Amino acid sequence: MHHLDSEILKAIPVYLKPVEAIWQPADMVPPGDSETFFDQVKELQARARNLSYDLLAVLIGDTITEEVLPTYETWLSLINPIEDDYEGGWNKWVRAWTSEENRHGDVLNKYLYLSGRVNMREMEISTQHLLSDGFDIGTARDPYRSFIYTSFQELATNLSHRRVAQFAKQDGDDLLAKICGNVAADEARHANAYKFFVSKIFEIDPNQMMIAFEDMMRKKIVMPAHFLREKGLEKGASFRHFSEAAQRLGVYTAADYINILVSLIKEWKIDAISNLSETGEKARDYVMMLPSRLAQLAERIKPQASSHQFSWIHT
Ligand SMILES: [Fe+2]
Ligand SMILES: [Fe+2]
Repeated sequence: MHHLDSEILKAIPVYLKPVEAIWQPADMVPPGDSETFFDQVKELQARARNLSYDLLAVLIGDTITEEVLPTYETWLSLINPIEDDYEGGWNKWVRAWTSEENRHGDVLNKYLYLSGRVNMREMEISTQHLLSDGFDIGTARDPYRSFIYTSFQELATNLSHRRVAQFAKQDGDDLLAKICGNVAADEARHANAYKFFVSKIFEIDPNQMMIAFEDMMRKKIVMPAHFLREKGLEKGASFRHFSEAAQRLGVYTAADYINILVSLIKEWKIDAISNLSETGEKARDYVMMLPSRLAQLAERIKPQASSHQFSWIHT
């Protein structure tokens, strides 16, 4: 992290946008101080009525995932060998990244609140539960494992928000499409940054970086909302239903998981990395073989029809 710190400092203006130039939630939702506010909300609600049940369920799950940002910020702050270096690269990155991410839950929550289709209290209970439950993603405080996770996860959220935007457009909700499209574009920049951090580690410590990659893929990249629950249910009980809705719709599927892995293998030129120890070589072989093994498994997964009724959604 000491070595990487100056690279991260240089990466901030490349991968993140200046605060006063970037979009804000207020650019996209009806302004409460406008005379036409109520008309605008009526239009918003009319469009939101056309969103399918699964799409709404996925959107709510995505929103809750974004709103538990304090969990991610805390976790990232702990990967820090130089805590007191307030203006250091990593410390600055965590703050600036968090400041961009914070807009995601904010804008999505405002949209859902105005949409009239959501039982906000039930959703807020799920958000509070998820914050309280945290997540267990198997990275400990290791930057190598954590950056594999964030590279993967930012790509997954990019894809998921992008697809929700497409479906919202199909369902005639251009505003929601714009919101999710903007969020997705942020996630893409973040993914590029984390992929860059990993590539920098591969340059100086290929062996341990490869072993970390293998280790994370063996553990599987669990979604940050894997402990998602609704009121009265066990920790994690709602995650499966959320994930199945995403698969049914084609917002995020087993094939997407594999495609992300393939794209990372390409990005980091895993096949061309040399000077590995025997353990490093084995780790690389495992990672290189994994997409085809997962593809065989994925063929057998069929999206399940669901009878689950989310407490978040008004029927
Ligand atoms: Fe986000
Ligand atoms: Fe993100």
